[in-house]
Amino acid sequence: MPLMTTKPMFDLAYSGGFAVGAFNVNNMEITQGIIEAAAAEKSPLILQISKGAREYAKMNYLKAIIDAAVKEYPWLPIAVHLDHGDTTKLVDTCIKDGFTSVMIDGSHHDFEHNIAVTREAADHAHAAGVTVEAELGMLGGIEEDVVGLDAEEYEKNIEKFLTDPVQAKDFWERSKCDSLAVAIGTSHGAFKFKHEAKLAFNRVEEIMKTCPGLPLVMHGSSSVPQEFIDLVNKYGGKMPNAKGVPEEQINMAVTKYGVCKVNIDTDLRLAMTAKIREVFVTKPAEFDPRKYMGPGREAIVGMVRRKMESNVLNSGGKAEAIIKHWEKLGSPLPSFYKN
Ligand code: G3H
Ligand code: 13P
Ligand code: ZN
Repeated sequence: MPLMTTKPMFDLAYSGGFAVGAFNVNNMEITQGIIEAAAAEKSPLILQISKGAREYAKMNYLKAIIDAAVKEYPWLPIAVHLDHGDTTKLVDTCIKDGFTSVMIDGSHHDFEHNIAVTREAADHAHAAGVTVEAELGMLGGIEEDVVGLDAEEYEKNIEKFLTDPVQAKDFWERSKCDSLAVAIGTSHGAFKFKHEAKLAFNRVEEIMKTCPGLPLVMHGSSSVPQEFIDLVNKYGGKMPNAKGVPEEQINMAVTKYGVCKVNIDTDLRLAMTAKIREVFVTKPAEFDPRKYMGPGREAIVGMVRRKMESNVLNSGGKAEAIIKHWEKLGSPLPSFYKN
């Protein structure tokens, strides 16, 4: 039953030269595509669910889909994670729903307030055996309910938004978070850079030094591959000037600087949208949803496998070692699963 918290995964990722991909799920086809890819790559996996996804798909449905997948692949290490939780109340609800990990995102509050909300959520989550991700620093782009800055303005003032390594240490100690999402130049969505795509690796290095042992997380880490933008635009889409984080830079953050978790949503949206658009344009008479959702699901499999390979997250083939480590820790599970 290896539904697990992120701890056994990050224990090995921290100095193992790989990161665990955290992919956003919103419906059955996306979830199935991600899990099929992880099974093919024998990779650990974080399925993350935003507040918007909970509302769109209805939590009971999403959880039932995930439970079905866990049953089908009992040898795959899977964590179910709340993405960008904004209140302790939502964190509590997710704990009751059987999430194994939660994010409390207080990054838009001032420092002390961020510590306070994170600490409260962490106390609740830890009491239930659930791991907690927090965020310090500010990302650009669009996040649900929080309108970020556009790429131009973000790049111009970047120093102001990046995570401060000294604050990070204080934040970690006082908030009791188990992992930390850092601002190092990434942003949410498909329009991440106006100018050169460049991450602040020196920041990651400094944070690793001030916070040894703390697993770092990169949000906004889609690469927005040009070939998918071209397909979307070729089949009637309109996404000019889309730009993501080059996969070589993601790989560098993971293998050279030790980032443990990499969040990807936009690339899944792109892959599925490009394929569905292609079906609609090349087969205009098609109206069986299985004939376009099916290829959309296949596109998700391809995109997720691409991410798990050695030149990006390097998480392929790591499932077995994580399961063994989890068993060595005593197969810990959140209290939800013990009743
Ligand atoms: O960080 C945001 C994720 O891409 C989730 O997006 O809130 O629209 O589901 P969403
Ligand atoms: P992208 O928009 O780059 O896919 O980032 C997703 C994310 O950070 C979800 O929390
Ligand atoms: Zn995010």
